[in-house]
Amino acid sequence: MTEYTVEFVGTGETIEVADTETILKPCIEEGIAQEYSCRVGMCLACSAEIVEGEVTQPAARGLTDEEAENYALTCMARPQSDLKLDRGKYPPSIEDAAAADGDAAGAAADDD
Ligand code: FES
Repeated sequence: MTEYTVEFVGTGETIEVADTETILKPCIEEGIAQEYSCRVGMCLACSAEIVEGEVTQPAARGLTDEEAENYALTCMARPQSDLKLDRGKYPPSIEDAAAADGDAAGAAADDD
């Protein structure tokens, strides 16, 4: 087992995560405000943008292969290196779906 450092950019929060556990697990244990819901890789509530580093997340069914290169579902993703993650960032398909539903406020809410 190898432990990696996961830094949440812009928050000052850092946790140690073993390569055998999901990133979400120590977040919950240590009181990090990482959102989640289904915990089975489907709802994308726990999404974070991968700013730096690599994860493995073969069970992240809510992401396309392309999205999985840039976003981590923290309920499924296990670190493969030290990481920098930007919490609460969602793949473009989610933003596009929100725009298609006429939810322009939802699509634009993330700009700052
Ligand atoms: S909590 Fe639903 S995809 Fe992670």
